[in-house]
Amino acid sequence: MATNPTLEQIEKRVNELGPWFHNISLRGVQTAPNHFLGDYPSTKWREFQDAIPRDLTGMSVLDVGCNGGFYSIEMKRRGATRVLGIDHDEQYLDQARFAAEMLGFDISFELLSVYDAPKLQERFDLVLFMGVFYHLRYPLLALDLLRQHVAKDWFIFQSMLRGSRTVPRIEADYPFAERGVFDQPGFPKMHFIESCYSEDPTNWWIPNRSCIEAVLRSSGFRIESVPESEVFICRCDESAHRDPIPFRIT
Ligand SMILES: C[S@@+](CC[C@H](N)C(=O)[O-])C[C@H]1O[C@@H](n2cnc3c(N)ncnc32)[C@H](O)[C@@H]1O
Repeated sequence: MATNPTLEQIEKRVNELGPWFHNISLRGVQTAPNHFLGDYPSTKWREFQDAIPRDLTGMSVLDVGCNGGFYSIEMKRRGATRVLGIDHDEQYLDQARFAAEMLGFDISFELLSVYDAPKLQERFDLVLFMGVFYHLRYPLLALDLLRQHVAKDWFIFQSMLRGSRTVPRIEADYPFAERGVFDQPGFPKMHFIESCYSEDPTNWWIPNRSCIEAVLRSSGFRIESVPESEVFICRCDESAHRDPIPFRIT
């Protein structure tokens, strides 16, 4: 792409790279102006942007499932020294590379799955894991890999949630004969999607609220705040692991 492309040239490239899931304004050209969720993910970002440090100078960021690069770009805007976006979809990575180039941001994007986290051989001050959990057949494996291999401090997590929103008190243990507790709507549960949800066959597991909170804690993350109904601002927390972690995943 020319250094100073015309609006028509940008528009043409945006169309070639589509369809886009992230709506990003590239010098006035919107990448997904008709998104089914509105101006997405700007609308979501506005709800939790104040829960993340405004100045990321000197910090490294890993954006897992970066898609068209919206959050990677926002992290770079905040001055992060190194931003790496990974995704297992080459088409989305091409979008992210183009978006970063058009906006003049130096961001690395690599074709990697979340399950490749150990290959990175690097820890990041802030890890974004937004909108990927429920797309995974092995979501807890992904969380364990991220916690054990790449997360250092901040962990910004988002998942679609379904089912009860109540978070009941869960005892540390129950007798074998106790059955009723499992029928409580708020007991930690993940809903398994055998074929498709919302016309999307990549949806696998959709947790309820108490489940995702428990899963995050047991993966070694302390939930600091929930600034948006699906967004959990976490910090790495050794004491939060179910102790001791019985195995190390490589
Ligand atoms: C719903 S989009 C979320 C995009 C972005 N993180 C956000 O919150 O707006 C899910 C993204 O996760 C990516 N993804 C799904 N499974 C993945 C995996 N195993 N490893 C890496 N990325 C994955 C998809 O390609 C897609 O870009």
